Amino acid sequence: MVKIGIMGAAGKMGRTLVQVINQDPECCLAGALESSSCPLLGQDAGTVAGIQPQGIFLSSDPESLGPCDVFIDFTTPEALPSHVEIATRQGKAFVVGTTGLQQAHFDLLEKASKTIAVLWAPNFSVGVNLIAKLVQIAANVLSAGFDVEIIEAHHRLKKDAPSGTAIKLLEVLKEAYRTSDVVYGRQGITGERPAHQIGVHAIRGGDIVGDHTVSFCGIGERIEITHRASSRETFARGAIRAAKYLAGKSPGRYTIEEVLGL
Ligand SMILES: NC(=O)c1ccc[n+]([C@@H]2O[C@H](COP(=O)([O-])OP(=O)(O)OC[C@H]3O[C@@H](n4cnc5c(N)ncnc54)[C@H](OP(=O)(O)O)[C@@H]3O)[C@@H](O)[C@H]2O)c1
Repeated sequence: MVKIGIMGAAGKMGRTLVQVINQDPECCLAGALESSSCPLLGQDAGTVAGIQPQGIFLSSDPESLGPCDVFIDFTTPEALPSHVEIATRQGKAFVVGTTGLQQAHFDLLEKASKTIAVLWAPNFSVGVNLIAKLVQIAANVLSAGFDVEIIEAHHRLKKDAPSGTAIKLLEVLKEAYRTSDVVYGRQGITGERPAHQIGVHAIRGGDIVGDHTVSFCGIGERIEITHRASSRETFARGAIRAAKYLAGKSPGRYTIEEVLGL
């Protein structure tokens, strides 16, 4: 039984994680961290997630995470340094889904991986990680002659753009197209589209969970590879799979691809 502590347990992903852990006989909820300004502190994490009480209460005290084997963090870039410090100090494996991270955050994760097992992924869904592979195959064939654009769509509350997943797809495309020419949206008299430019576009609205399309546009034909997430459960299931994989592992960096066997 893997004991999981959630950082950001009252957030959208945090609540979904609580729900999914409750259905999984191989793991249990053992800690629920929230920010000190969270109005729900002290409430049962299960009740907050809309399921039966779990006997685990939302707390801003990192010591409440003591009984856990693994932490899963879906919070904010600002909270990450303190969460890395907590995971390292307590010697716990650390799964991170927070996006909008900068190089300094990745450096912290790298440093932490010298003493604990660490896995960061911008997207934990099986489908998205599969389409990243499909995009790589397509880009290697189509980079000569096909213009490529990424379009992503998310709910109105999302704080970062482009999405972490779009950035991951962009890295795949930059390598295949051997270019660093990226344009984020277009406006005005933009002139002809340069070959080997990659366009990235972010749509924000309503409750869209997360859509990503990579469009390869040639002369006379267009190939589109699309993934649409209709529920946060897919991210939660992937993150919990990663947590179970990381429990008891040696210090180091691990990838979602190896967890999913891709
Ligand atoms: N990798 C993936 O597959 C994936 C999938 C979905 C989302 N995400 C990313 O995951 C992150 C969270 O997304 P979300 O939709 O769940 O956002 P959200 O609903 O805003 O939840 C974030 C939660 O973290 C809490 N928090 C902030 N600072 C904290 C701290 N210092 N300690 C403990 N908790 C803290 C927030 O509390 P307050 O509101 O009180 O500040 C909030 O409850 C975002 O970066 C998002 O892009 C990744």
